[in-house]
Amino acid sequence: MAGLDNREKRLLGILRESSEPLGVSSLSDKTGWSDQAHVVGAAMGLTERGFASLAEEESVLVKLGPEGQRAAHEGLLESRMLDWLESKDPKDWTMASISMDFDRSEAGPGVGILRDMGAQIAGGRLEIPDFEGALDEAKHRQSFIKGLSETSRNAVDLDEGMVAHFSRRRGLIEMERSTLRFWSVTQEGLSLSPEQLVEVEQINEITPGLLQGDDWKTKEFKPFDIHAPAPLPLGGRPHPLQSLIDRIRAVFLEMGFSEISGNFVQSAGWNMDALFIPQDHPARTMQDTFYLEDPHSIEIEQSRLEQWAGTHQEGSGTTSSGWGGTFDKEESQRALLRTHTTVNTVRHIAENPSIPSRVFGVGRVFRQETIDRTHLPEFHQIEGIIHEEAASLPMLVTTLRTFYTKMGYSDVRVRPAYFPYTEPSIEVEILWRGKWLELGGAGIFRPEVTQPLGTDWPVCAWGMGLERLAMLILGLDDIRELYQPDLMVLSKMPIL
Ligand code: PHE
Repeated sequence: MAGLDNREKRLLGILRESSEPLGVSSLSDKTGWSDQAHVVGAAMGLTERGFASLAEEESVLVKLGPEGQRAAHEGLLESRMLDWLESKDPKDWTMASISMDFDRSEAGPGVGILRDMGAQIAGGRLEIPDFEGALDEAKHRQSFIKGLSETSRNAVDLDEGMVAHFSRRRGLIEMERSTLRFWSVTQEGLSLSPEQLVEVEQINEITPGLLQGDDWKTKEFKPFDIHAPAPLPLGGRPHPLQSLIDRIRAVFLEMGFSEISGNFVQSAGWNMDALFIPQDHPARTMQDTFYLEDPHSIEIEQSRLEQWAGTHQEGSGTTSSGWGGTFDKEESQRALLRTHTTVNTVRHIAENPSIPSRVFGVGRVFRQETIDRTHLPEFHQIEGIIHEEAASLPMLVTTLRTFYTKMGYSDVRVRPAYFPYTEPSIEVEILWRGKWLELGGAGIFRPEVTQPLGTDWPVCAWGMGLERLAMLILGLDDIRELYQPDLMVLSKMPIL
């Protein structure tokens, strides 16, 4: 029968023969399966397919507590006391002799129980008007306790008065609420033919040995439910951010780009002056940039400094009129932590001015930011350039659109923006849950940037945020979650 495994077939056969619904323990007796999980698994499988129906019954199970266990072996306190009284002459039923033969922890409570059963105390002596009645009651109680000594029992099958009595005494019985499940066969289950319930040999493990022969071709395979809940495998895995970086690298490599990298420590000259960022630009202040004390400065060739000075002061070598003012060569040689990875692409052009190139890099950058939900002082940029004769704005937009489409976001748009080093400048946005999110800047490098570098070709350039993309892909709303070393949280992040 398609879909039914051997256990389900066996269980269905049993349900078909039973005139009443069967619970887990009777099913496990009848199937001979000691593991109740097998019984429940098969019964649930049949229920899901409509061959069996399930009825649930809330129940209270009663079992012996620690005192009850003792009473089952040694006798209830009242039984032992009555036995003792029976063995003595009633004139010796004094409180004094009771406390001699019974432990202190038992004498008082025992007499208390007997008084509840009708005993009285007069002049230090115990009197029990209806001794036979008390004995009967104690026997009745003892047999109730004994009846529970083997297994727990359903409260509805027990003497209600006894349950009420013992639940008032400490440690004798315990109650446990549980849901009992019973299965019975349905009309559909009855309609299967006996042949459909014949168990067949099933292959439940595919081994290399098995595949070497031909036997498997005629055998049946055990069906697997790939939707069944399963524990999360907690093995090692790359950090989600690392996986994302690797995916980005794969995408750019696939698009024909080569990878470049650079140092975290750079001079202000390469990080900013080469990009025609004016020396009095607000982003260059100590509040925004991490300047270094050691090294305090990094030497740059005089000829290079002269070139930047000329471009910044009067636009020499270009059609620009420059920023004016006086270019500070000391300032240019100050050491800092790179504030963007654009420094890598600019240096790449300076080193290869006449070789066309398409390069990218994913790297860490540093800015003096106050940490909050969307800001970190250290983050990553996805940087790249296309440096070749025919480089153009449409080529730039198409490249970024292709990149984001390959990353899973095909709705990309660009908007005008401003950067001191690009003209035109654009901002790249992607559509995410109906909202446009800005992911980075791009543009064509200005002649003030490219001419001092020694090239006449246009350069498409971009710098995108990695963490913002990561937040979208991983579904986070706080950037800090990316860097928290909580293994439980990390292990639950999507595999990229
Ligand atoms: N460097 C810019 C930033 O850090 C991004 C950018 C790169 C813009 C290249 C234009 C060209 O935001």
